Amino acid sequence: MKGIVLAGGLGSRLYPLTKVTNKHLLPVYNEPMIYYSIRTLVNAGISEILIVTGGNNAGDFLKLLGNGSDFGLKHLNYTYQEGEGGIAAALSLAEFFSDNGKIIVILGDNIIEKNIRKAVESFKKQKEGARIMLKEVPDPQRFGVPVFDGDRIVNILEKPSAPPSDYAVTGIYMYDRRVFDFIKMLEPSERGELEITDVNNFYIREGKMEWDILDGWWTDAGTFQSLQCAGNMVAQTGANKLSA
Ligand code: DAU
Repeated sequence: MKGIVLAGGLGSRLYPLTKVTNKHLLPVYNEPMIYYSIRTLVNAGISEILIVTGGNNAGDFLKLLGNGSDFGLKHLNYTYQEGEGGIAAALSLAEFFSDNGKIIVILGDNIIEKNIRKAVESFKKQKEGARIMLKEVPDPQRFGVPVFDGDRIVNILEKPSAPPSDYAVTGIYMYDRRVFDFIKMLEPSERGELEITDVNNFYIREGKMEWDILDGWWTDAGTFQSLQCAGNMVAQTGANKLSA
């Protein structure tokens, strides 16, 4: 299975920090933000990885990451997103890379404590469809939030003011090849973006969405508060290290 790290967008919620660099190159405690998401994929046994980036500082990713030897990789792939069309728009750039196979996608500002190996193994055995990872959070209104009927997810609401559950849909998504057909059917949301939540809802409507609860702590790092929180958590308990 191939992996994709989405590190495009303008990071406007972190202005002025992101005026002269890309959000995913900012430090989270002692490492650049993007190290954590690459490691999440590598620790799940993914060795073919595409980084989708954008903005004025895309060249710095090459300087920082090269061919990924810091992660035990032989090679890294890169592509460039023009503008800030949304997470699903960034993902659409990975179609050529996917070779019609299953993929795992992680948002470059998502940091986890442990690993996702079990969920990835389950997805490898899953015949078709998609798989997402949920985490119970105190502030679900900041995220995509699942609506449950028993233990099935029947809908996901993006940043609802009245969250229907205490779970966030984390930025770790597993898809079969149909994801690129669904992306082509999307319309921009109110914030003018192609939303990953709309993609997930296509799978849910077809009854093809599975889910797992993420083990250990999880945070995004896209706001001043969550960036600081991520740094503190890494400093206190450590995040995912490269496993042997
Ligand atoms: O962190 C999990 C949340 O991420 C989910 O719960 C939400 O459902 C999902 O929409 C997303 O919410 P955010 O509003 O926090 O996403 P944000 O716009 O901050 O983008 C997250 C990452 O996605 C960003 O670090 C890089 C990538 N991205 C984003 C955009 C808008 C791109 O690569 N290109 C883009 O155009």
